[in-house]
Amino acid sequence: MTVSEKIVELAKRRGFFFVSSEIYGGVAGFYDYGAIGTILKRKLENTWRKYFLGLDENFFEIETANIMPEKVFEASGHLTNFVDPVAKCRKCGTFHRADQIIEEFLHENFEGKSAEGLTQIIKKHNVRCPRCKGELGDVAVLNMMFPIEIGASKETRAYLRPETAQGAYVNFLRHFNILRMKLPLGLAIIGKAFRNEISPRQLLLRQREFTQAELQIFFDPKKMDEHENWKEVANYKLLVLSNKKIIEVSCDNAVKKLKLPKFYVYHLAKVQKFFLDAMKIQKSKFRLRQLSDEEKAFYNKIHFDVELELEGIGFKEVGGVHYRTDHDLSGHQKISGESQEVFYDGKRFVPHVLELSFGVDRIFYALLELNYAEDEDRVILKLPASLSPFTVAVFPLVNKDKLPEKAQKIYGELKQYFDAVYDDTGSIGKRYYRQDEIGTFLAVTVDDDTLKKDTVTLRNRDTTKQVRIKVSKLVEEIRELTNL
Ligand code: GAP
Repeated sequence: MTVSEKIVELAKRRGFFFVSSEIYGGVAGFYDYGAIGTILKRKLENTWRKYFLGLDENFFEIETANIMPEKVFEASGHLTNFVDPVAKCRKCGTFHRADQIIEEFLHENFEGKSAEGLTQIIKKHNVRCPRCKGELGDVAVLNMMFPIEIGASKETRAYLRPETAQGAYVNFLRHFNILRMKLPLGLAIIGKAFRNEISPRQLLLRQREFTQAELQIFFDPKKMDEHENWKEVANYKLLVLSNKKIIEVSCDNAVKKLKLPKFYVYHLAKVQKFFLDAMKIQKSKFRLRQLSDEEKAFYNKIHFDVELELEGIGFKEVGGVHYRTDHDLSGHQKISGESQEVFYDGKRFVPHVLELSFGVDRIFYALLELNYAEDEDRVILKLPASLSPFTVAVFPLVNKDKLPEKAQKIYGELKQYFDAVYDDTGSIGKRYYRQDEIGTFLAVTVDDDTLKKDTVTLRNRDTTKQVRIKVSKLVEEIRELTNL
């Protein structure tokens, strides 16, 4: 069994995620999160919130509509440029994403190549339909947005947003005026994005409806080569892909040798720190990869992908640091006729945007996979305490002799400080296993000695070691062990 197959089993068994509308057979590219999965996803989103909004006192979260009128996407360029290359099989009629099937065939990355270029590669290498080995037709492009017709008379054409970012752009000027008229200004959105993916696959990694967490930082382009907190990161080492190897480059050297602007590199460092320090991703599983001009998104001038290494897939993009210039604000200014200029620092200009963009579902999946472990017949999700769905489980050893009452009392107390769960079903061994599988960091067992001496056992998920401690010391001890 591959790790991803094991994750699917675990996800079903313990309620992390499932195919949506499964009783009707489901539709490719749509997933639902179960009870435990939702807790984990919220913790991930809240950690993101706290971390990225904490970068600057002028960064705020907003919530904007999922459906936006066509003009928005005319202005942003998505109407013409947000396309994927498709190739139809002449034999079975299946549509495939052309760059992906070529990639699978030749083991090279072809993202961003033109339709004509991909047609030539298909012909040259005789790339065939992965389903029936039939001949493939010429590559065409397909817009990935979901169109919507609004109102009874369907008078307004609109789209489900393909990225949260546009919500921040159309709101920018209002927030600049409301929020102290100061730059940089950060507007973050955690919300759904929708893309009509041709080949949704790899579970949560390529869906048609998914969650993004994006921070749009509006700034003065004249200040691109500075950041007031530069010293904080100057010697910090970035993990960058270079000539097929991951090398460590200090932020100072990224500016000097890679010729990247300080404002950009500062945020690249903060993004890396988020993954290594807050998500506790192993260094060896993380890298930053600069995209070539061909691969870059159509709106970007500088584009690094954030990638995590997953089994059977290799390094997978989970986020990106995008210098979008004034592409979007100037586009909206032109199409809406509303000036997007600000008066700041003695001059009038359209601010530029640095976007820190992340796929929440991809990070969620990576957290499951990278923390998945087995110890003989035990499955353990070695999540950091800050992300574990539950910090501590409380069990009465048996459901009699006043143990449940005492356990409930302890559970009630712990619940005030930590995410606690009470479990009295099945043998104690089964309860430990069940909690290990969902990543519960610690387990407290209430037994006869609890009634006699007011002590409990406290079990560590990763080592299974148990210590006996006074009930009065529990909160302090759990705090110490989890840093929560
Ligand atoms: N606002 C910029 C933007 O949308 P993107 O690279 O297209 O950039 C951002 O998307 C992130 O969203 C990606 O890095 C990825 O993690 C996630 N993402 C993109 N398409 C996805 C899909 N079909 N399913 C799940 N996550 C996806």
